[in-house]
Amino acid sequence: MTDLKIMKEKIEAYKKQIQESVANTSEQLEDFRLRFISRKGVLTDLFDEFKTVPNDQKRFFGSELNVLKQLAQDKFKDLVASLEEGNTKEEAAIDVTLPSLTSKGTIHPLSQVKNRIIQIFERQGFSVKDGPEIEDDFHNFTALNFPENHPAREMQDTYFIEKNPDVLLRTHTSNVQIRLMEHGKPPFRSIMPGRVYRNEAISARAHCFFNQVEGLYVDRNVSFKDLKQTLYHFSRELFGKGTQIRFRPSFFPFTEPSAEIDISCFICGGDGCKICKNTGWVEIGGSGMVDPNVLESCGIDSKEYSGFAFGMGIERIAMLKYQIGDIRLFSENDLRFLQQF
Ligand code: DAH
Repeated sequence: MTDLKIMKEKIEAYKKQIQESVANTSEQLEDFRLRFISRKGVLTDLFDEFKTVPNDQKRFFGSELNVLKQLAQDKFKDLVASLEEGNTKEEAAIDVTLPSLTSKGTIHPLSQVKNRIIQIFERQGFSVKDGPEIEDDFHNFTALNFPENHPAREMQDTYFIEKNPDVLLRTHTSNVQIRLMEHGKPPFRSIMPGRVYRNEAISARAHCFFNQVEGLYVDRNVSFKDLKQTLYHFSRELFGKGTQIRFRPSFFPFTEPSAEIDISCFICGGDGCKICKNTGWVEIGGSGMVDPNVLESCGIDSKEYSGFAFGMGIERIAMLKYQIGDIRLFSENDLRFLQQF
């Protein structure tokens, strides 16, 4: 038997709760709906209880319950309307087309230099290609003529993700040369910008991640003079018309012969300064003629085709171009640095 006094108190309490409800968020609106509108809510319980109310009281409680139910439904409509109005007011308060009052975004200096490099090579007929940063041993080392257990592999301190079979973070963009050549037919004429990783102590001069741009040109009768001319043109475009270029004999497993690329110091014009350590020259990357072993490991006949390749550090070039003394600045996102570009 329902205690009519308690039922009356409940009706009064719910009335008050309904009248005082607010919904500033859709979660609060949903809470209201579950409690007072849904069929699993408290009003359904009350209507169940109503079935046991004695007949002489049914008229009174019936009308009380109907009033309560109507109150809940009206309130729910109000809450929905005011929440929608609030949302549109808030949306109206944010005009996304207005110019920013705080700082405007700029293109990161590394992207600026990368875009400029791409532009210069695109004008010489190079396309832009991309490759994976997580790489296997074959594409990062073996196909590039790094012999198993050869000390040349130690030239680049590698981050391994898994051992046997090796999965690693690429140490250079030269992996994209392999990815390009193994799935296509010459001629290839591409540059491949991207991020690389080395297990190195971080300092002003070195970082555990940085960006390189790789270049590859493979066709019939490609010679060292094509390499020289391509990079000479590039250097003059990027660093200025008076720039001189020189090649120093070097060693890379994937090129034979190999050469380090130096440009005449564009700060002092070759007279000697701090940037070029008084030598008049600064190094910008490595290069060489693609080793026949590399061509063969990609299924390309090295008797028919030859090619040149080069690789440069984009941070290094940006540091030279803008005289930035610390490589860490590129990844620290300090607005005082970024806003200068
Ligand atoms: N992969 C070399 C490095 O990371 C750079 C490089 C040198 C790339 C000579 C080349 C090249 O393609 O021919 O140190």
